[in-house]
Amino acid sequence: MATINDNYLKLKAGYLFPEIGRRVSAYAADNPDAPIIKLGIGDVTEPLPAACRDAIIEATKEMGDRATFKGYGPEQGYLWLRDKIAQHDFQSRGCDIDASEIFISDGSKCDCGNILDIFGDDNKIAVTDPVYPVYVDTNVMAGHTGDAAADGKYEGLVYLPISADNDFTAQIPTEKVDLIYLCFPNNPTGATATKEHLQAWVEYAKQHGSLILFDAAYEAFITDPDLPHSIYEIEGAKDCAIEFRSFSKNAGFTGTRCALTVVPKNLTGKASDGSDVELWKLWNRRQSTKFNGVSYIVQRGAEAVYSKAGQAQTKELIAFYLENAKIIREQLTAAGIKVYGGTNAPYVWVKTPNGLSSWDFFDKLLLNCNVVGTPGSGFGAAGEGYFRISAFNSRDNVNEAMKRITDKFKA
Ligand code: MLT
Repeated sequence: MATINDNYLKLKAGYLFPEIGRRVSAYAADNPDAPIIKLGIGDVTEPLPAACRDAIIEATKEMGDRATFKGYGPEQGYLWLRDKIAQHDFQSRGCDIDASEIFISDGSKCDCGNILDIFGDDNKIAVTDPVYPVYVDTNVMAGHTGDAAADGKYEGLVYLPISADNDFTAQIPTEKVDLIYLCFPNNPTGATATKEHLQAWVEYAKQHGSLILFDAAYEAFITDPDLPHSIYEIEGAKDCAIEFRSFSKNAGFTGTRCALTVVPKNLTGKASDGSDVELWKLWNRRQSTKFNGVSYIVQRGAEAVYSKAGQAQTKELIAFYLENAKIIREQLTAAGIKVYGGTNAPYVWVKTPNGLSSWDFFDKLLLNCNVVGTPGSGFGAAGEGYFRISAFNSRDNVNEAMKRITDKFKA
């Protein structure tokens, strides 16, 4: 009989969102008429921007015609898309990023996990607590941790607590770590990072030879002009950071699938013989071996984000979700519930009322209000006593959910 990767046995029962889905399905099966509103997983609800949809239709027609049909594309993504990303998302903000350093993929979640393929097993890895669970679980799967303790923390990982006391931005560690996951705007807390905060991380990384894995999947939600959108806006970051980006949340591509990862050409890692090896070469090798690229049709859809119409439509989409976040913040605050985030991010991080645990609040909301959110403790031990509410839903559903919650929990 084939043996298995035992590391999977160290994982907690289910990935957070399927676990929530399981509980909601069980409730819905017992209460088939319950008008459940889901503000749990950060999945978009509004249709694709018309510019993207039209580009996808056009590209689909091309694929149906022998003269314009395309087979395999370049594993790294088509240059016409990478050029637009480099210019619009990076060079226009003063970041020295070239199209050759951009890899198109089918998702940031996949890239955040797959990137571990190019790193050794002996790195010291730091994550914030709470944190997007993919960073932790993929390290557990790769055998980079020991077992989980009773509080859910895995032996071998360095946890950097984030809370209201430090504005949900981790204190720079005093010990040396090799890989650091940072996510801004933050999932799950909705917090943002100033240039000064990122500068401090870059300085730390350069001083210790560490690598920052920077998840910027929610950068489009930044409206404050002083906040950085990319880690490469920080001097020196090209020498110590990889950045992940996505079309999922700015252009509604969660079901369409397109994202990108930036691996600067000058970044290096240490081989066991002591030599320095370019990470770009390893990632390129990994992608061209295990990945055949994102479909032509979808890349044309992503390219349309950068057209004049696409820019206007994605801006409108983001403003729509940010208005939802504002409604959530205002309604809960008026009901005496403490909230954080949700101004430059689509997530509102809620202090659970009446000292309820995260899962107790989850159950109460589901049973009494038929509203689904995400328990903060699912993002890590320090998330206990918090709850994440996502702004990704229709306006009617957000208004209705807030009415039900505030009616039930008014102070
Ligand atoms: C979330 O709810 O945290 C997101 O949906 C995660 C993701 O985009 O994978």
